[in-house]
Amino acid sequence: MRWIRDALARLRPGVLLCGLALGAALLLAAPALLSEETGAPAKAAPPSGPKHPVNLRPVGKPARMATGEVDALGAPIVVACSTCHSLRTEESPATKPAELTKFHKEFPFDHGERSCLACHNPKDYDTLRLADGRALPFTHSLELCTQCHGTQARDYKHGAHGGMNGYWDLTRGPRTRNQCVHCHDPHVPAFPRMQPTFKPRDRFMDAHRDAPKGGAR
Ligand code: HEC
Ligand code: HEC
Ligand code: HEC
Ligand code: HEC
Repeated sequence: MRWIRDALARLRPGVLLCGLALGAALLLAAPALLSEETGAPAKAAPPSGPKHPVNLRPVGKPARMATGEVDALGAPIVVACSTCHSLRTEESPATKPAELTKFHKEFPFDHGERSCLACHNPKDYDTLRLADGRALPFTHSLELCTQCHGTQARDYKHGAHGGMNGYWDLTRGPRTRNQCVHCHDPHVPAFPRMQPTFKPRDRFMDAHRDAPKGGAR
């Protein structure tokens, strides 16, 4: 048993030294970890300096429409909405797809009981319109959606809906936000359900496992 006592005797100064060093380190670190008055954990200083902008990801769809015809060079003919709509003086414009018999036929639409003109501007079909009648360019449809979808607008504002790219810390770089129509078709806005697929397959493992059964798959 003497060897144990010897070992302990040799160890004790070491342990003592370690303890002292730890204590000293804690004492030194304490002011940094705890704020002096409250004893609460101190907050890291917020990043400072000039901030980069938050950009809106552009919508690449101007108020134009392919006619389905091609020009002499084979390029598709694309016209502005107003090409036709500035000439049309309809007493009672169509309000839902079922009423579209002359054009935009078989229009895919499933957005509640919305009328086309809840969003499109009958005074200028090259624009959208807000509920108060103000015209809104197609490139800013985000504002159109948020006036009716308050919950998502709130979530979008603090970043829980709609996703983003770039930096949380704007002092380090810019951020890009999506618009609603990047993910939702304004006419059929329900987000498509995921299609389940087959599990990934390791053909080498499968070959071994399936060998005795002899069946090719
Ligand atoms: C080639 C001509 C043509 C073009 C281009 C065209 N439209 Fe139309 N649009 C029509 C016609 C015709 C109707 C009426 C269809 C009906 O009542 O059967 C219509 C109907 C509509 C309606 C329903 C309300 C209404 O006035 O009857 C909306 C909304 C609409 N168009 C939006 C657009 C937008 C937005 C564009 C551009 C992206 C566009 N249209 C481009 C011809 C056109
Ligand atoms: C909830 C708002 C909303 C309603 C309701 C709505 N639209 Fe639209 N529509 C839009 C927006 C926003 C765009 C621009 C699409 C984009 O930026 O991708 C658009 C684009 C279009 C276009 C351009 C081509 C295309 O398919 O994107 C046509 C044509 C059109 N709408 C017709 C109609 C017609 C006809 C109706 C009624 C049956 C209607 N819209 C109802 C918001 C709406
Ligand atoms: C005028 C008001 C109005 C505007 C503008 C509007 N919405 Fe809607 N939206 C509604 C209503 C009401 C419903 C609920 C439809 C229902 O279930 O009857 C709805 C439903 C939805 C849904 C759920 C669809 C589903 O089937 O689960 C999505 C997503 C949506 N809207 C996205 C959009 C987007 C994106 C825009 C802008 C292009 C937009 N909305 C503009 C009123 C609006
Ligand atoms: C990055 C893609 C993306 C963007 C951008 C986006 N959404 Fe969505 N949104 C989704 C997904 C995914 C769902 C479906 C969630 C689910 O099915 O549980 C959804 C669901 C919704 C719903 C239906 C909620 C419900 O409970 O059924 C509405 C309404 C909606 N979004 C509105 C908006 C509006 C308004 C904007 C713009 C401010 C927007 N979204 C931008 C991806 C997006």
